[in-house]
Amino acid sequence: MKIFLDTAEIAEIRWAVGAGLIDGVTTNPTLLSRAAGAGDPRDLLQEICGAVAGPVSAEVVAVDPDGMYREGKELARLADNIVVKVPMLEEGLVAARRLSADGIDVNVTLVFSAMQGLLAAKAGAAYVSPFVGRLDDTGQDGMEVVAQLRTIFRTYEVDAQILAASLRHPRHALQAALAGADIATLPAAVLRQMLLHPLTDRGVDQFLSDWSKLGHHVQAEGTP
Ligand code: E4P
Repeated sequence: MKIFLDTAEIAEIRWAVGAGLIDGVTTNPTLLSRAAGAGDPRDLLQEICGAVAGPVSAEVVAVDPDGMYREGKELARLADNIVVKVPMLEEGLVAARRLSADGIDVNVTLVFSAMQGLLAAKAGAAYVSPFVGRLDDTGQDGMEVVAQLRTIFRTYEVDAQILAASLRHPRHALQAALAGADIATLPAAVLRQMLLHPLTDRGVDQFLSDWSKLGHHVQAEGTP
């Protein structure tokens, strides 16, 4: 399973790229407006696209098909690795079909059912984004949508990638991997939590402490 970072904060992206942890980035209008502040979000998107080698999702904010298509074309011109995100609306699917016919990768976002996901894939989406956490918030099992999409896409040999989104904790990431998601997009805090285990820290401490008992017999490389 690939891992994307769900953020528009350039420092977080540089950290995750530097640590070799991520394969791409997803943004949304909320994340971009927060990170760009008074700056131009398009400049920030270009900076993000330069910082990560993989796909970077950038969302349209128009709500009519022509506006979404126009905006999607503009976003795609910002960088070669832009993926245009459109919402799972009838208008969004019309725009998705036109953009993908032009060779632009589209991520259909705000997917809350497997049938929505299937329609998105049929419209030419390269990525379909079920929002797990927001479904959980309503008392439903968001991960079930990921598992259902995996079964449907495998059965009918659908190429679109399942991008599990709105993941809130490392257990969500584990469940997404087990359910067969192609990609999990995670906030930086969740990715950091995935790195950690108290037994790893305790093990390192113990190894270093035992090693230090060798005292003067062992010198770090390069010391006289
Ligand atoms: C994904 O593309 C979305 O930006 C994101 O996962 C939404 O997550 P949230 O429900 O925590 O806002």
